[in-house]
Amino acid sequence: MPTHAPEASAAFTVLHGTHSSVVLEVRPDEAPLWRYWGPRLPDHCVPLAPLRDGRAIPPSSMELDQPLTVAPTFGVGWYGQSALLAHRSGRQFAQQFTACRIETLVPGQSIAIHLTDSVAQLRLVLHLALDANDVLQLRCELFNDGADVLDVHWLAAGTVPLPGDAQGVRSYTGQWANEFQLQVDALSRSLWQRENRRGRTSHDSFPGAVVTTPGATQHTGTVYGAHLAWSGNHRQAIEWLHDGQYQWQMGEWLAPGEVRLAAGESLQTPTLFASCSTQGLNGLAANFHATVRSRLPWPGGRMRPRPVHLNTWEAVYFDHRTEDIRALAAAAASVGVERFVLDDGWFQGRHSDQAALGDWWPDPGKYPHGLQPLANHVNELGMEFGLWVEPEMVNPDSQLFRTHPDWALQLEGRPLLTMRNQLVLDVARPEVADYLFTQLDTLLQNVPIAYLKWDMNRDLTTAGDALGRPAYRSFVHALYALLDRVRAAHPQLEIESCASGGARLDMGVLVHTHRVWTSDCNDALSRVSIQRGALQFLPPEILGAHIGPAPVHTTGRSQSLNFRAGVALSGHLGIEADVRHLSDEERMALGRWVGLYKQLRNRLHTGQVWLGEAGDGVLWQAHGDAHASEVLLLVYRTTPTSHRNTPPLRLSMLRTAAHYTIERLDPTPPDWTSSPLNDAALAAGAQQALPPTAHGAWLAAVGLPLPRMNAESALIYRLRLVPP
Ligand code: DGJ
Repeated sequence: MPTHAPEASAAFTVLHGTHSSVVLEVRPDEAPLWRYWGPRLPDHCVPLAPLRDGRAIPPSSMELDQPLTVAPTFGVGWYGQSALLAHRSGRQFAQQFTACRIETLVPGQSIAIHLTDSVAQLRLVLHLALDANDVLQLRCELFNDGADVLDVHWLAAGTVPLPGDAQGVRSYTGQWANEFQLQVDALSRSLWQRENRRGRTSHDSFPGAVVTTPGATQHTGTVYGAHLAWSGNHRQAIEWLHDGQYQWQMGEWLAPGEVRLAAGESLQTPTLFASCSTQGLNGLAANFHATVRSRLPWPGGRMRPRPVHLNTWEAVYFDHRTEDIRALAAAAASVGVERFVLDDGWFQGRHSDQAALGDWWPDPGKYPHGLQPLANHVNELGMEFGLWVEPEMVNPDSQLFRTHPDWALQLEGRPLLTMRNQLVLDVARPEVADYLFTQLDTLLQNVPIAYLKWDMNRDLTTAGDALGRPAYRSFVHALYALLDRVRAAHPQLEIESCASGGARLDMGVLVHTHRVWTSDCNDALSRVSIQRGALQFLPPEILGAHIGPAPVHTTGRSQSLNFRAGVALSGHLGIEADVRHLSDEERMALGRWVGLYKQLRNRLHTGQVWLGEAGDGVLWQAHGDAHASEVLLLVYRTTPTSHRNTPPLRLSMLRTAAHYTIERLDPTPPDWTSSPLNDAALAAGAQQALPPTAHGAWLAAVGLPLPRMNAESALIYRLRLVPP
């Protein structure tokens, strides 16, 4: 990596991505100073002057200037948020790194920063890498080199600078069936922070955010994003600093007493993924998508085309009757389903959500010969067989709990608090992990299961281990280990991370699993915003998106097949409905959408995704770019029009010097014409006449004309590059 030494005391470590750069000012006796993280600098751009001792000391300030470092510490001249808060029985509460060594791991791409505090007797090794997707990865490990216990309250996975013109923070709030609700806050001199103490990633506080600068849009301008790859408690904070810039920290939120490092022990943080894009929110999403794609643990190392699912949950809930389920499988196969997932309700004594979690063998009343006959039937119909499990949980009313009541996380003297009537197992206990592995392994050995839907339906409370210590982080590590153990024993298995829908949806779990259940809400209108939020960080092919019933079970709204299927096309498509009772016409229409998904999935699931708004309640999602031979366009009208004429839709990702053919692909078009309020002229207006070809520059500058659409309807277009 290029290292410059404008004067003896300072060196600059520079990492370049494709469109972004990082510059650190390094000295042997302190933590490196953050000099830059932002849009790409030219290769040989030498920093103007060292910051250390280069700034005038303002009045009423310490004589020692303390600029932002990669790991600011408390108590020795830094007044902002610290990357580390620790002490030894109330002493040694201040830290300061006194030695620094930079180790090059991959030249120009990744380094390890070795920091030592000889007074506090600790070391911090900070890994920092900037990949070709412009995603900066930061994580660190803290070593206790002292003789006494080191109590750690906070250790940021990373600290990054943000420029002084950083303006707004886009983070996500929500709840069950309503995840990824965008929350936009203005940055100011007040501390911005969000914390999650629910023990799982949570519905209401996604561990990530995007910071915008003035003028940034979906497609243009400089934006910064960060995400903590962790499925437990977390904290993120953005703080204004007195030199006008901001610092951004993210890490695990630690419960009191959760990390007490004995002599020689260490603490590793999860990885913080951060990225800077000059191509607006879509450019940022593309960076994250590329990095997530490179980390997904696909069996055989490559993603297969994402099979169409049918999940039995909303079709039968707990009411499993063999003949009904077999008929459901046959009906699913008839509309083109490729993976049939048997959801909750199949195991010993599971007739409602009151009982049975922990007893992971087939209920003999429902499946007298086990699951094998059903799985064989599903396979004979040409589909893979998938199975729902919720391994980390136990109902008090279960054989497992009656035998091992001490296996549940609990606190002496406190009531066992249930949520959905269930408790959480202390998966970090080896005997608990062994029990769960054996149960899952037995199922996987005896039944041809290609896929596990791995659910997790409650937050953690009274999360104490057998010794009464907080077990939040050990729980997450144990979960990851269990997932890996199951995958190692069954390498062809794919696993979905589900947690009452989208409560465990993060890049941490996504190196152990292959898909997330984005939300329990299958309402297409709600799904538009949920999916667009998730797409800011995660690629579409891993976001479960199902065509639900009408009316929708979670919201009561009814939507056309056109809208439900058009919105599900945006992710990994499945069906969450009882397809046994469809009319022939409905079955054929559903089959046509499934067929369209199969035809388009290679394009939908690779390359860049663009999100945009045409105005007047029209949102769109495009797949492909100027290099692609075709671009797919999913258009959603979410609200009734307030215009006489729908605004055209501008497509900036097209090749401007080329022509495109444009075709409509939606197999069941928006149902505008059937409304009794619409006269013939309007109905005719809904039938859009498209020119045979259009110029890319025209479509980018003026836009694609759109027909009239009802609220809650979708249009699907394919734009094909005309060969020159
Ligand atoms: C919550 C999940 O999100 C649903 O899809 C379903 O699997 C239920 N749990 C089953 O209990």
